[in-house]
Amino acid sequence: MSELVIYFSRSGENYFGGVLKNIEKGNTEVIAEYIQELKGADLFKVETVIDYPADYMECIDVAKKEKTVAARPKIKKTLKSIADYDTVYIGFPNWWGTLPMAMFTQLEELDFTGKTVKPFVTHEGSGFGSAIKDLEKLCSGAEIKPGLSIPGADVYDAKDKVALWVRD
Ligand SMILES: Cc1cc2nc3c(=O)[nH]c(=O)nc-3n(C[C@H](O)[C@H](O)[C@H](O)COP(=O)(O)O)c2cc1C
Repeated sequence: MSELVIYFSRSGENYFGGVLKNIEKGNTEVIAEYIQELKGADLFKVETVIDYPADYMECIDVAKKEKTVAARPKIKKTLKSIADYDTVYIGFPNWWGTLPMAMFTQLEELDFTGKTVKPFVTHEGSGFGSAIKDLEKLCSGAEIKPGLSIPGADVYDAKDKVALWVRD
């Protein structure tokens, strides 16, 4: 059966080892595309109706408020079923210690019973934070395999690491 990558990723201003840079493609998207290339997986990008600010500090504030109120931001397209897939890669940046709230909006719509989930995160030092615990709830009924954690600044050097991880 085929494989799917569900991911969220934000372009714009971001921190790389303490330095602000503007990027056209988000870090998590780089990893998602490696998996597409290595495994022939389909890609589904979770995108919010209201874009997050490109300005890093503004985005930090918006995301913090969303997390505080457990918001479920509206997304442009909702994936309704993963029945065609047995393995689902779930990728996201660590936002305030867990997945961006928009991933909750999407993942809560899906039935993960019997699926294999392979999570991956990009981050600036916190790894998965509490995301695996949150994924256990969001993907109830799935087997969650060991995740892959990559610092945002390293994504363009991470293809070999991704290739090893997708093989397991
Ligand atoms: C709103 C926001 C919150 C973040 N919170 C954390 C955090 O709690 N821990 C961490 O290590 N990195 C944090 N980061 C850094 C991102 O996880 C990191 O830059 C990631 O690679 C961004 O991925 P993307 O380009 O795919 O969106 C945060 C970034 C943003 C924009």
